[in-house]
Amino acid sequence: FGTQTINEQGHLCIGGMDTKDLAKEFGTPLYIYDTALIKQKISEFKQAFNQHEGLKWQIAYASKAFSTVAMIQLIDQQGLSLDVVSGGELYTALKAGMNPERIHFHGNNKSESELAMALDAKIGAVIVDNFYELKLLEKMCAERNQEIAILLRVTPGVEAHTHEFIMTGQDDSKFGFNLDNGMADEAVKRSLRSPHLNLKGIHSHIGSQIFETDGFAGAIRIMMKHVDTWARDFAFQLDVLNVGGGFGIHYTEGDNPLPIERYIDTIVDTTEEECTRYNLTMPEVWIEPGRSVVGEAGTTLYTVGSSKKIPGIRNYLSVDGGMSDNIRPSLYQAQYKAICANKALEPADSQVALAGKCCESGDVLIKEADLPESCSAGDLVAVFSTGAYGYSMASHYNRITNPAVVFVENGEASLVVRRETYEDLIRQDMALNNLSRNSS
Ligand code: LLP
Repeated sequence: FGTQTINEQGHLCIGGMDTKDLAKEFGTPLYIYDTALIKQKISEFKQAFNQHEGLKWQIAYASKAFSTVAMIQLIDQQGLSLDVVSGGELYTALKAGMNPERIHFHGNNKSESELAMALDAKIGAVIVDNFYELKLLEKMCAERNQEIAILLRVTPGVEAHTHEFIMTGQDDSKFGFNLDNGMADEAVKRSLRSPHLNLKGIHSHIGSQIFETDGFAGAIRIMMKHVDTWARDFAFQLDVLNVGGGFGIHYTEGDNPLPIERYIDTIVDTTEEECTRYNLTMPEVWIEPGRSVVGEAGTTLYTVGSSKKIPGIRNYLSVDGGMSDNIRPSLYQAQYKAICANKALEPADSQVALAGKCCESGDVLIKEADLPESCSAGDLVAVFSTGAYGYSMASHYNRITNPAVVFVENGEASLVVRRETYEDLIRQDMALNNLSRNSS
């Protein structure tokens, strides 16, 4: 992917940096991000939208996929908007200097203090998920005599799966206002009545790692049908249609993501068709890609340690990280591809289970990894496409410290998250005598 090459010594290079040198300088496990590839993905999204003349659009990077101060600064530099889903993500964005007007706040259970933070910062939009939030936000805005732009998250009853999508007659999701049972109608009515909430449009997110366009088209048709009803019943005007994220990426040979432009064309064309059908003005189209912006740009570099051969059953090769830096294989049976980064030209003639170091049998990063026979203790293994939901879902299980993160481009590496230390691990801990003093 991107700027990955193999040099004469047979070492994997990313962004013009030899991974062996990166391991030496920053240690392993190490998350390496190819920032040129991130920028390329962003430009593919922009180009796809720009093909549609006169269209207004916004790309909000879903920061849940990977959020650090430097990452948000890169997103800001690229002129994208940002989707945050918690006070922590919002805090990171604000600290990074992100323009608050381009921040959109998501989540199915935003707290009063999180909403206060959003109102204080005067962020661009709150995506309201439920009646509790609608009421709370209205009350808070009234107290502050402040207005805020909102979108309503709706559940269109389209569930996107990896390879197919199914229309579910009955929605079962913790997110959003259901369209098929009057919930969304009521939410639109109440929002329009509010003097402080400026209802700009609606939002849906149908799933993640989607390889087809039908789910997006289906969701848009259903939403626009309701928009037409609201236009007639409540004089509602749709300024923004946000169709969320979910664009698929390549992890292994089995994944065949569509070119970004295919998704965008379908989304824009379907919206235009439906506007024509119902005689509505074309809204701004917003999307929220996360995985497709950062997934393929991330590579995790590990050092091999122990190995175990079980004759006739399986060979295990263990690395110095695992489910603590990438929970996805054990949580979703997610598949990844790996190579021996310092023996990249040797034939991958041996099949091993690439195991992590956590005390859990399920901590296997790749069940059947093809690596060179000689790959053993001290060698480096690179696991590809770990840029989304790896670092952001990392844990401290077994009190394993979180790896460092480096950005690489044009033969330069910059550390954007330093490696955690053991001291970091106990920073919030209180000693026992403290506890007994409090409780006595
Ligand atoms: N917008 C909303 C409202 C979302 O809920 C999500 C993802 C996105 C945008 C971004 O979706 P993306 O473009 O990244 O697919 N932890 C899981 C993925 C969970 C996605 C949750 N929502 C994983 O590792 O696969």
